[in-house]
This record gives sequence, structure tokens and C-alpha cells, in this order.
Amino acid sequence: MAIIASNFKTNHTRKSTKDFINNVNDFLTSNSIISDVYIFPTSTALDTFDTVSNLTIGTQNAYATAKGSYTGEIGTEQLDEFKIQTILIGHSERRHILGESQAEIAKKFAFYSELGYKIIYCIGEPLEVKEQGIEKTLEYVYEQFIGIDINYKNLILAYEPVWAIGTGITAINTDITSVHKALKSKIKKPLLYGGSVKVTNVEEICSLDGVDGALIGTASWNLEDFKQIIKNTKDL
Ligand code: PGA
Repeated sequence: MAIIASNFKTNHTRKSTKDFINNVNDFLTSNSIISDVYIFPTSTALDTFDTVSNLTIGTQNAYATAKGSYTGEIGTEQLDEFKIQTILIGHSERRHILGESQAEIAKKFAFYSELGYKIIYCIGEPLEVKEQGIEKTLEYVYEQFIGIDINYKNLILAYEPVWAIGTGITAINTDITSVHKALKSKIKKPLLYGGSVKVTNVEEICSLDGVDGALIGTASWNLEDFKQIIKNTKDL
């Protein structure tokens, strides 16, 4: 059964998020789809949503704190209000655009794993590393596990090559399977692929050896496309 996750990034309003989630929820119910589906809205659109047990709402980010003086951040006091228990950690945009270091990421991971959160932990190499070959790619990706408890029970991994995120360039199947195979031999956790996954390629990608589902940005922001993605993978 494929795991399908949608990362809204900085898209959708509070209103459109609510409509989107309710619509996906109805879709899962009326089609008796039991795939695990995750949606990560913006912080401003978090709320209490009445969803089926296989539709989970998570946060794209939060600081390693319950509350305090961290301008622009949210902590568990804000997440608890909506019973959010799922978080994305290590996304490449936070690593490369927002400048989160591996040490900060590890601290966040430790804090949220201590609280029992489901963590989708993202790893992936930039283009200049990929161009140096698979050995260097794996070396780079393994460094993103420094300080991370790979045996954590509520852990899902997402391999997202940075050069494939939001670019329309999907990794070719062998790029995906070689990294997934290596990771799977070391870490026994569900492993998603992310990077320009869309309606037309999701089934093929999710059927590859060692791929347990997809973490999707761009193609998941359109409701009809996201529902089609769920439909295309429901029997895998
Ligand atoms: P994309 O983003 O689907 O737009 O490539 C994937 C991600 O960043 O999770």
C-alpha cells in the first residue's frame, strides 16, 4: 500500500486548505481507499480537521520547543491545539534556503521523536553531488543521518534529490532504485521518493523496488491531480 504525502509548502490559504482537506477526505471515504495519505498545510492553515484515520494532517515545520521567544516559529503549544502529531523534518528547502544545519535538524528530530511524533525525515543530494556519482551521493545522504535515530519507531524517510524538486526533472528509475536499495539495506523504514512526482509518473515510481510511496509538492496542490495520484496508487 503506497503512502502518499502532499507538501503544500507556501501555497493555499486557510479557506482553500480546509476545502481541499474535506474534499480529499470525502474522496477517500466514498471510494473506500485505505492508502495512508498525509497533507502538510502552511502553519496558518492548521486546524482541527475531522478526517478518516488514514488521512493525517501534519506540520511542515516547527521549532524544538513547547513555547518561547522564537519569532516566526511555532512550537507544540500551537500544534497541540489542533492535535497535530506529525512533522516534516530535514526538507531540502529548509536545509538549503532557510539554512537549517544538520545539528539543528538533529535537535529538532530528537525533540519531536521524544514526544512520539510521526516524522517524515527528508534527505537528498544537490546536483553537483549527483554528478560525482552514486558513491558520493550516498556519502552525502548518509551525512544527513548524523544525529538522527534511524531506529525511531514513528519514522518515515523521504529521498528527494534536490535537483528534482520543483524542477519538473524526475530522477530516472535507476537513480531512484540505486539510492533506495542502499538506504533500505541499512535502514528498515518506509521510504518515500520525492521530486517532480505527478499524475503521469506516480504509479511507475511507487511500483519501483524499495519505493513505499511519494512525497509530492507542486502536483499535489491541485485537488483533482492529487485525487488522481491517490487513485493511481491505491492498489499498489
Ligand atoms: P515537487 O516537490 O513535487 O514540487 O518536486 C517535492 C517536495 O519538495 O517534497
